[in-house]
Amino acid sequence: MRILSIETSCDETAIAIIDVEGSSPDLKFTVLANQVHSQIDLHKQYGGVFPMMAKREHARTLVPLLKSALREAGIYKEGSRHVVESPLRNEFKQMLEREPEMYAQFINDIPQLSPPQIDLIAVTTGPGLEPALWVGINFAKAISLVWKTPLMPINHMEGHLLSPLLKRTETGFSMNIPTLPLLGLLVSGGHTEIVLMRDWGIYEVVGQTLDDAAGEAFDKVARMLGLPYPGGPEISKLAKRGTAGNFNFPRPMLHTKNNDFSFSGLKTSVLYKIKELPNITDEQKADIAYDFQEACVEVLTVKTLNAIKEYSAQSVVVGGGVSANARLKEVLTERVTRDEQILVYFPEPAEATDNALMIGVAAAVKFPSAIPALEKILANGNWKISEK
Ligand code: KG4
Ligand code: ZN
Repeated sequence: MRILSIETSCDETAIAIIDVEGSSPDLKFTVLANQVHSQIDLHKQYGGVFPMMAKREHARTLVPLLKSALREAGIYKEGSRHVVESPLRNEFKQMLEREPEMYAQFINDIPQLSPPQIDLIAVTTGPGLEPALWVGINFAKAISLVWKTPLMPINHMEGHLLSPLLKRTETGFSMNIPTLPLLGLLVSGGHTEIVLMRDWGIYEVVGQTLDDAAGEAFDKVARMLGLPYPGGPEISKLAKRGTAGNFNFPRPMLHTKNNDFSFSGLKTSVLYKIKELPNITDEQKADIAYDFQEACVEVLTVKTLNAIKEYSAQSVVVGGGVSANARLKEVLTERVTRDEQILVYFPEPAEATDNALMIGVAAAVKFPSAIPALEKILANGNWKISEK
C-alpha cells in the first residue's frame, strides 16, 4: 500500500510518501519521499508562530511541495493531461476558494499530472492551529477528489506517539512492537500529556499540563534570554556551556498525586531571576539555561516514572518536539531502565519535530479503519488523542 501524507498543523508544511508492507502493527515502511518545509525563518522575526501567516505560507507551499515529493518518489509524470471533469472542477473550486493563490497553483499544475499510484491520502486534522489545519485538509480533499483516492484524517499527537517506535532499516523503517500497556509522554510546543495505550489505537490521557506546554516553556525562557525561536534547541545548546546549581528553580507539581504538569510557575521564576540580574553575563545565561532544563527534565522524568508504576506500563515512548532534547533522553532513559527495567523509545531527532512521515505511519497503523466521507473531514484544533 502506498500512502501520501500531509501535515500543516503548525509551522512546518510537510508531505511524505511511503510504501507499507505487512499487517498492522507489524509494518515495514519504505520512505519514497519525506519533504519538510519549515516556516521558522518567517516566524523567527516575531518570536513565535502567527496563525494567519502560517496558514498563508502553507497555502503558498503545498502545491510545489507535492510536486517535489512526487519527484523525490520518482512518480512525477507530466504530459498526459488528466482531464478534470467540470462538476469536480466546481467542487474543488469551492474547497479551495479560501485560498485563491493555492487554487491558482492547483488548477495550473495538478491536472497536468497523470494521477500517481497512491492508495491512501492521510492528513492531520487536529490538534493544532485551525486556520493552518484547514489549508492542509482542503488541499488533501482536492487531491483526493482529483485522483479518486480515499482520505483518512489523522491526529497529530498519534503521529508523535508512534514515531518513536520507528526502527531504521536500509530503505526506511520498521515498526518496533512494544509490550503493552505502553505509556506515552508527549511533549511538544502545544501539548504536554501522558497517554496510556492499553491496546493499539486505544488511548487514554492520564495526565496533562494545566497551563503551558513544555516546549512553550522552552520557547518563552529562550525569548527571555534573547535567543531566537524555536527556543528548545537554543536552550539545550546554551545549557551545554552552563554549570549546575547556580539557580534553584522550582519543580512544579513534582509531588502531587496526579500525573498533571504545570510549567508556568517555573517560567515566571526564571523571569524573576533574570530581572534580578540587570547586567546578566553570558555565563549566567548559560547557567540559567542549564538549571531550567534540569527542572523540566526532572519533572517530566519523575511524572513519567510515577505513571509507569500507577498503570503497570511495560514500555514507554517519548514523542513531540521536546523529545529531541538530548538531556531529557539521557535522564529519562537512565531512570526508567534502572528503576523499572522496561524499554524506552525516543524518536531520532529528525523525526521528533513535526513531519508528515509520522502522519503516514499513523494512517498505516489505523488502516483499514473506516474512512469518513470527505464532507465529514473537518479541522479540530483541540482534538484529543483519546477521542475518536
Ligand atoms: O512537535 P513540534 O515540532 O511542534 C508542535 O507540535 O508543537 O514541537 C516543537 C517544540 C518547540 O516548542 C521547540 O522549542 C521544542 O519542540 N523543541 C525542543 C527541542 N527541539 C525542539 N525543546 C527542547 N529541546 C530541544 N532540543
Ligand atoms: Zn508536533
